[in-house]
Amino acid sequence: MADKKAYLKIDGSDESLELPIYEGTIGPDVIDVRSLTAQGKFTYDPGFVSTAACDSKITYIDGGKGVLLHRGYPIEQLADKSDFLEVSFLLLHGELPTKEEKEEFVKTIGSHTMVNEQLASFFKGFRRDAHPMAVMCGVVGALSAFYHDSLDITNAKHREIAAHRLIAKMPTLAAMVYKYNIGQPFMYPRNDLSYSENFLHMMFNTPCEQKPISPVLANAMDKVFLLHADHEQNASTSTVRMAGSTGANPFACIAAGIAALWGPAHGGANEAVLKMLAEIGDESRIDEFMAKAKDKSDPFRLMGFGHRVYKSYDPRAVVMKKCCDEVLLELGLQDDPMLKMAMKLEKIALEDEYFKARGLYPNVDFYSGIILKAIGIPTELFTVIFATGRTPGWIAHWNEMIGGDYRIARPRQLYTGHAKRDYPG
Ligand code: SDX
Repeated sequence: MADKKAYLKIDGSDESLELPIYEGTIGPDVIDVRSLTAQGKFTYDPGFVSTAACDSKITYIDGGKGVLLHRGYPIEQLADKSDFLEVSFLLLHGELPTKEEKEEFVKTIGSHTMVNEQLASFFKGFRRDAHPMAVMCGVVGALSAFYHDSLDITNAKHREIAAHRLIAKMPTLAAMVYKYNIGQPFMYPRNDLSYSENFLHMMFNTPCEQKPISPVLANAMDKVFLLHADHEQNASTSTVRMAGSTGANPFACIAAGIAALWGPAHGGANEAVLKMLAEIGDESRIDEFMAKAKDKSDPFRLMGFGHRVYKSYDPRAVVMKKCCDEVLLELGLQDDPMLKMAMKLEKIALEDEYFKARGLYPNVDFYSGIILKAIGIPTELFTVIFATGRTPGWIAHWNEMIGGDYRIARPRQLYTGHAKRDYPG
C-alpha cells in the first residue's frame, strides 16, 4: 500500500482532508475514503462505476486495452493452452496445477458429480416449462440442505469441499434442469468422461441410447465454460461477495449469484442476443434495430454489445468468435443464417459513429449464444451454462474474502425523502 495521498477541500472548512492512495500491482490507484464517514460525509457512486469494493488477486481487466488476466495469465493463452478445470484450479489456488495436482483435482471433482437422490424429487415441484434459471436458483440454494458437513465457513477444509461440490454439481444440475424441461429421465454423470464430455452426455444421451460425444463439441463446450470462468467484480460476483459477507453458506451465496446473473443486462444477455437476432429476422431490418438501439426513448439495447468495463473489444468475444467458426464449420453450419446476420450486425455496429463514440463492442455474450445453439442447447438454458462456467470464479472470490479480513457489506445512501413529519391528527 503506497503512501501517496489525495487532499479533499470542502467548502466552508479551512482544512483539507488527507485521503490515502493505494497502488495495485497494475491498474488504477484507489483513494481510501473511509475517513469521510467521521466527517459526516459519504461518497456517491450509483452503480459503483468508480468504486473498488475490495482488493483482489484473482482477475485483472483493462477495459481500454481489452486485457483479461486470470492470476496474471492472459485469457487468450489460457483459452489456447489450458482447459476449464485447470483454469478453475488456477482461480481457486492462485497457481497453475502441477501434473499430479491436476490429476488429483480432476479426480476429486469427478467424485462429487452426483447430487443427493432426494434432490431429484425437488424438481417435481416446478412446472415442466419453468425457466431453467428459476429452477437453478432453487436447486442450488437447496444444496445447503444436504451438506451440513461443509458449511463451517471458518474452516478452510469445509470451504474447499464446498468449492469442489459446487464446481462438480453445476453441470449435473444444469442437465437435470434441461431433462426435466423436456420430460426425459435424468442421466447420471459418468466419471470416465471429461468435465465437458460428461455435461454433453447428461444433456443429450438417454438411458436407451448413449452416443459417443463429439470431441469438437466437447472442446467448444469446455471453451465456453473457460471463457466465462471469472470476470473481476461483475454484478453477480459482487452479489456473491455481498451475500458471503453476512456469513451465509457457500451454496446460498452461489444461488444469489445465479439470481443476479439472470438479468438481460448481465448473464441473461446471451439468451437475449438470440431472441434479438430472431426478432430482427432479416439483414434488411438491421438498420431499423440500430436506430432503436440509439433512440433514448426506446428501451431497446443491442444485446451482446457494450460493457461497463470494456470500451474496446472484449478479448473473450475474439476467442468465442474463433470457436464459433470452428464449431459451425465442423457441423457444416458455416452458412448458418443467424451467424451471417450476427456478423453483418457486428460489422454495421463497429462502423457506427454512435457505437464507436461510446466504445460499444461485441462482448462475451454476442457469439456464445450462436455456439450454444449450434451445439443444440436451447436458448433458455444459455444463462445456466454461463452460471456453470462462472461458478469457479464466484467461489474463488467468496473464498478470497472469507479466507481474509472482511466486514459485512453495507452501503449507505443519499436520502432524498421526507424529513421527519408527524402522523396527522
Ligand atoms: C456481461 O461486468 C461484467 O464483467 C459482466 C460480464 C461478465 O463476464 O461478468 O462481462 C458479462 O454481463 C456482459 C454484458 C452483457 N450485456 C449485454 O450485452 C446487454 C447490452 N449491453 C448494455 O445493456 C450495456 O452495455 C451494459 C449493461 C453491458 C453496460 O451498461 P453501462 O455500463 O451502464 O453502459 P454505459 O453507461 O457505459 O453506456 C454508455 C452509453 C450509454 O449512452 P449515453 O447515455 O452515453 O448516450 O452507451 C449506451 C448507453 O445508453 N449503450 C448502449 C448499449 N450499451 C450501452 N446503446 C445501445 N446498445 C447497447 N448495448
